[in-house]
Amino acid sequence: MCGIFAYSNWNCPKSQKEIVEKLLTGLKRLEYRGYDSAGLALEDGEDVSRTTAKVFRETGKIANLEGLLEASEKDLHGDLVFESHCGIAHTRWATHGPPAPKNSHPHTSDEENDFLVVHNGIITNHQALRETLQRKGYMFESDTDTEVIPKLTKYLFDKFHDKCSFRQLVMEVLRQLHGAYALAFKSRHYPGELVAAKRGSPLLLGIAEGPHPGEQHALVTSEGFVPTSKRAKRTSMEFYFASDASAMVEHTKRVLHLEDDDVAHIHNGGYGIYRMEKIHTEGEDSPSLAYAPTVKSAEVERTIETLTMEVEQIMKGNFDHFMKKEIHEQPDAIQQTMRGRVVFDADGNVQRVFLGGMVDYLSTIRRSRRIILCGCGTSYNSAIAVRQLMEELTELPVTLELASDVLDRQCPFFRDDSIIFISQSGETADTLRALEYAKSKGALCIGIVNVVGSAISRATDCGLHINAGAEIGVASTKAYTCQITSMVLLALALSEDSRSRADRRMDIMRGVVTLPDTMRRALELDQKMLALARTLVDENSLLLFGRGYNYATALEGALKVKEVALLHSEGILAGEMKHGPLALVDETLPLVVIATRDSSYLKQKSVIEQLRARDARCILIVSEDDDSLDKFASNEDMIIKVPEVCDCLQPLINIVPLQLLSYHLTVLRGHNVDQPRNLAKSVTVE
Ligand code: F6R
Repeated sequence: MCGIFAYSNWNCPKSQKEIVEKLLTGLKRLEYRGYDSAGLALEDGEDVSRTTAKVFRETGKIANLEGLLEASEKDLHGDLVFESHCGIAHTRWATHGPPAPKNSHPHTSDEENDFLVVHNGIITNHQALRETLQRKGYMFESDTDTEVIPKLTKYLFDKFHDKCSFRQLVMEVLRQLHGAYALAFKSRHYPGELVAAKRGSPLLLGIAEGPHPGEQHALVTSEGFVPTSKRAKRTSMEFYFASDASAMVEHTKRVLHLEDDDVAHIHNGGYGIYRMEKIHTEGEDSPSLAYAPTVKSAEVERTIETLTMEVEQIMKGNFDHFMKKEIHEQPDAIQQTMRGRVVFDADGNVQRVFLGGMVDYLSTIRRSRRIILCGCGTSYNSAIAVRQLMEELTELPVTLELASDVLDRQCPFFRDDSIIFISQSGETADTLRALEYAKSKGALCIGIVNVVGSAISRATDCGLHINAGAEIGVASTKAYTCQITSMVLLALALSEDSRSRADRRMDIMRGVVTLPDTMRRALELDQKMLALARTLVDENSLLLFGRGYNYATALEGALKVKEVALLHSEGILAGEMKHGPLALVDETLPLVVIATRDSSYLKQKSVIEQLRARDARCILIVSEDDDSLDKFASNEDMIIKVPEVCDCLQPLINIVPLQLLSYHLTVLRGHNVDQPRNLAKSVTVE
């Protein structure tokens, strides 16, 4: 949901062309976060302190912006080399105002582009700020909430610039803002400087250094003002800000995650991280645009972490689309989820599950009043998939909450609840708000998160990283199966003390270790699903029926089909069929029924018989050695045989053909696979 990228070089000659390329590459890595429009700003001319910055903004994908830049080549001095230079860039998912160049970022303070800002988040008091600034004579060109930020910066600069540095100026601006933001500011009044700030939206600082030829040593500290004698002559530095590590990894693996209310200042070849001691008070809606010397800041240390992500993870490799790559990565991704967590004896027999990050919390969870599973979309579906097993193994009530409903309903959460928050991105605003609410009620909060260092993984008391690797396709695939695997491991660890369940646990653990191979076999259905997709390509609707462990499979399969193939699709609990959905059934509407062998098998068989009695077009997902249902499928394309695993793990296998089906349907229907219409990967607004 909007991606920001910023770059600064110090003592490190780069041509303007190279800087544009860096900004565009950064944006392309973040494009999955929003693809309605994009823009960038960089200085132009020999003397950066005297020229206006150049701003390029275009609707549509980054490729359109790239086209605009190519067309504007004559306006740019591609070979102009900057020893020190800052550029900022943005890819947008529209919230306030439709996609249009005027609503694209960077937003500017004035015609001279004195202050330029890129923003991810929402400024909730933008209307009050806009009206105040309009009364002071400021004209607005966009419909966005963001535009108040550069205008406010300019207003405060004109009044107080003799009293404050760029960082202090930005802090004055932040003091007036309510809502959520990751922001990067640049200004021609502070050449070579970048200021970035974060509250509620993610932001990373990446640091790359390289000694000049002949230099052995380069100095990096978190102090903003390293003595020039030590630094500037010896070190060339590059700094990056990005919404996400995937935009950073090809430039540097040394990153630090900014915390809420951090302000980062890049200047003189160094960086400083500062915390505002006093930030705005929520509820103060009428802005007072006075300089407030009471706003103090203190410099803080932040640990530089090394990214474990590899560049290949963010590339498509031999695949046409990230979604296809990620579907096919699932066997390896699940292996990564299990790594170090499933313990084997010397003969290679599985023994137990060991969850390092959870050991101190397992007994608290076992003593809870109940377990609540909470998330959105696919992450919520993964909760549905493990609920039954979690109930069985823990003997605790396990309830489900859609994160977006938690605050609306003011859910009764208690201090003896254990609440598991599931999120691929770790930054979904609804889930984060539900988590904050749960913490305020004193509940134990556990995270099941993919992105390391994300807001949800930091805010939870404990948890598991699912280790699925970067998921770039907007439709979640490998994160879903790795979330289920992680929660199965958690359920196993929670029941470790139960002797009566030892055999069941062992069955499941044996099944878990075979999952990667079983899933490889399920992926062999690719061509079969392509053939099926060809027969469904012109349909207007698809219903999926599942129950028990595979109710989630029906919901998740339907979500995939609707979000990428843009084909209406509903997942239905098969037990509910005769309470309404049966009215839709005729000989034209295609239906998928999941009827692999588990305790619901006979009931599903009866559902299939009832559907066939009404001449329904049935596509059946059945266990590979089950021929008894063949006669119910409308034709042989419509019977899909999947490898069998332990009942509670079967959803991990059954979803694979449905993921493949939605992928092929999308390609055949000519839609964008990795960036479906109107969607974005990380939904950082409520
Ligand atoms: C569907 C999909 C979304 C996400 C949902 C939650 O394919 O990706 O439904 O699952 O927006 O996102 P996370 O898991 O990042 O919290």
